[in-house]
Amino acid sequence: MPTISNKGKAMPQSPIRKLVPFAEEAKKRGVEVFHLNIGQPDIKTPKVALDAVKNNTLEVVAYSRSEGSEEYRTKIATYYEKHDIHVTANEIIVTTGGSEALLFTFGSIMDEGDEVIIPEPFYANYNGFSIAQGVKVVPVFSGIDSNFALPPIADFEALITPRTKAILICNPGNPTGYLYSKEEIQKLAKIAIKYDLFLIADEVYREFAYDGTEHFSVMQVKGLEQNTIMIDSVSKRYSMCGARIGCIVSKKPEVIETALKFAQARLSPPTYAQIASEAALETPQSYFDAVKSEYVERRNILVSELEKIEGVKVAKPKGAFYCIAELPVENADDFAQWLLEEFNLNNQTIMVAPAAGFYSTPGLGTNQVRIAYVLKKEDLVASVNILKAALKQYNA
Ligand SMILES: Cc1ncc(COP(=O)(O)O)c(C=O)c1O
Repeated sequence: MPTISNKGKAMPQSPIRKLVPFAEEAKKRGVEVFHLNIGQPDIKTPKVALDAVKNNTLEVVAYSRSEGSEEYRTKIATYYEKHDIHVTANEIIVTTGGSEALLFTFGSIMDEGDEVIIPEPFYANYNGFSIAQGVKVVPVFSGIDSNFALPPIADFEALITPRTKAILICNPGNPTGYLYSKEEIQKLAKIAIKYDLFLIADEVYREFAYDGTEHFSVMQVKGLEQNTIMIDSVSKRYSMCGARIGCIVSKKPEVIETALKFAQARLSPPTYAQIASEAALETPQSYFDAVKSEYVERRNILVSELEKIEGVKVAKPKGAFYCIAELPVENADDFAQWLLEEFNLNNQTIMVAPAAGFYSTPGLGTNQVRIAYVLKKEDLVASVNILKAALKQYNA
């Protein structure tokens, strides 16, 4: 009998999606489910992007260049310039989402058995990309009590081995909402240089930095040009998750040349989506201002409501649109499933992402959940109300 690969068997299930069948069952029973589990924003995609697809006159939906269209990459470089990131079109490879950018990056710089150090909790799909490329994830612990700030540099150094090739950070963080400061990035830059490591930064939430904070990119660190690889995406920036456009940015020519070979093997990023993404670059600043203030209001309301529940601890996010909440339960996996299978408050319930799946050290995060504040404020308030009633009943 033909058999499945060990790699295939080792691929983890998404902690975000694994409860979907239970949510579907709840819906069939007529229960309304508030989805706090997934980072699918309800924000409208900019009209310029939608119109560019509606109004274009393509007669053949052809492949584009493997690295992405010249016009689009040139315009992305201009966009980065506004963020004080100085790159050219040739230092950018357009990918099918940030996901493919991560996959190509891992494939380009790491061999079977090589190691990447990642502060945990981290975006769970980093596990999947690592397994797909035979790379070992080495987690470095960051805790809720420090709001998931950068772990001490000594903790990174203690984990560096001859197989360590890279450090990967997500800034601002999914699932933590933590925004690394310029000082923290510079500390990472120092060890990247000291140990000859790549510093990969997933900056897909760049625009979502709150409370007057400024996002500082790894691409802005002087002298780190040969070590940095930035991962980007239009998914969250323009609420265009379904467009499937991202990119790899690096000033190290070998990284770009190698990633291009992966890009050539899959031929081309999607053509229509590049048209939409190129037009999205014309989105007025007022769009971002409105989106940002909406998220800040949502965050404030969510955090303050959560803090009112006895036994709940929250790390106040400074960016992105997620937060980790520690709950007075032993097993958040079980609680999340119970919420969907057995509980409802006036025929409504919530779906959350159990946080253990965002840690790679077994046993961590078992009493935590990730909440995505991608819903309207009144739905967030209703959701926290449901959580409060559910905790009372679950713990009774
Ligand atoms: C931190 C982070 N990186 C990368 C991605 C991948 O995004 P996409 O493939 O939609 O660009 C996501 C999606 O949620 C994410 O949260």
